[in-house]
Amino acid sequence: MDILILGVDGYLGWPLALHLASQQHRVAGIDCFLRRAWISEVGSHSAIPIYTIEERLQAFKDCFGVELMFRDGNLLDYSFLKAFLAEFQPDTIIHLAEMPSAPYSMIDQAHAAFTQQNNVIGSLNVLWAIKEVCPNAHLIKLGTMGEYGTPNIDIPEGFFEVEFRGRKDRLPFPRQANSFYHWSKVHDSNNTMFACRTWGLRATDIMQGIVFGSHIDEMSGDVRLRTRFDFDQCFGTVINRFICEAVIGHPLTVYGAGGQTRGFLPLQNSIQCLTLATENPSDPGEYRVFNQFDDCYTVEELAAAVQRVGLEMSIEIDIEHYNNPRTEPDSHYYKPDRNHLVELGYQPKHDLETEIRTMLQDLMPHKSRVLEKIDVFVPDIRWEGGRRFSKKVDIKATPV
Ligand SMILES: NC(=O)c1ccc[n+]([C@@H]2O[C@H](COP(=O)([O-])OP(=O)(O)OC[C@H]3O[C@@H](n4cnc5c(N)ncnc54)[C@H](O)[C@@H]3O)[C@@H](O)[C@H]2O)c1
Repeated sequence: MDILILGVDGYLGWPLALHLASQQHRVAGIDCFLRRAWISEVGSHSAIPIYTIEERLQAFKDCFGVELMFRDGNLLDYSFLKAFLAEFQPDTIIHLAEMPSAPYSMIDQAHAAFTQQNNVIGSLNVLWAIKEVCPNAHLIKLGTMGEYGTPNIDIPEGFFEVEFRGRKDRLPFPRQANSFYHWSKVHDSNNTMFACRTWGLRATDIMQGIVFGSHIDEMSGDVRLRTRFDFDQCFGTVINRFICEAVIGHPLTVYGAGGQTRGFLPLQNSIQCLTLATENPSDPGEYRVFNQFDDCYTVEELAAAVQRVGLEMSIEIDIEHYNNPRTEPDSHYYKPDRNHLVELGYQPKHDLETEIRTMLQDLMPHKSRVLEKIDVFVPDIRWEGGRRFSKKVDIKATPV
């Protein structure tokens, strides 16, 4: 297949390009290096050093013997996007090119507006370009499990059967996002669903859980192929951040009592799921939703798992509770479905503890890079507005 990855320089985009190339697909990519700029803006760097795009592309060619057709461009530049789609004529477009951080979107008005402009208008441009240039292409759009929030009932995959005043219908499941970033994803989902219904486009909207992991098999032979690994309060997702804290002996920063439950999956499994969705496209006019995660854990359970694996490797790890900068329930019901990918043959290959062990091994050599930026762990972006950091809390005194 001819596959275009939007956001190919990112944490997920780069490994996905490598894996799809290893499966003999022809891969092209677009990026404008915003992620690299955001990480500098928040005063951090990737714990695992990453190479320039020129070096990455050369390593790709050395590894697979073919070129990755790359364009440096922004999805907000509609004529650029449309021209490249016309040139490459993809069978599949995997859209990862969005600002992916909830805290970053909550910094202030400018960051909230930037997030929604970048994500919503960028995705709208993708829909229009597909309609105008390659209407039969399959769009795989990365959403997030965070679109659903944490309702007090089970979470289906996108739609549910509902009976109201004696009549029945199959309707989109309510979305209750918890940051301006997560709301941008909800707006994208609505626009994508509408474009499928109105123009007959085909799309798979992936409600992805939180991804963790430091490498995939295809990267093993060449350091230039490694993907980024961030640990700051904005872009360091929870397990990745815990691993960086563990390797430098910083206590794991659990927000509140740590009872918040979410769905998680290892990087390698995320790539496997996206490959399955690519190789099994939706039908013309079909808008389908996949919930993409392996297991649900509380933040406290994750911290305990990192501590347990650390102990086996003779790494002593403390856990500390901090005032939660987010406005969210500390403890709640959480039971999402995840059947659609399983029906396509998905079987998770990597489990939590094995992956934590690999991550600790991968990050140990980069301890000094984490120590250099130790301040970026501090969770001071507050959902109610402004920046304020309150130190450790006594969880026995915190209502759960
Ligand atoms: N990583 C996770 O745990 C996770 C979980 C759920 C959903 N997602 C979603 O998956 C997608 C990829 O996530 P990621 O962790 O790889 O993020 P990332 O920031 O590493 O990757 C996104 C890439 O897109 C590029 N980009 C952003 N806006 C762009 C624009 N307007 N034009 C061109 N390029 C642009 C960035 O430079 C970056 O390289 C995002 O949509 C994110 O919301 C990620």
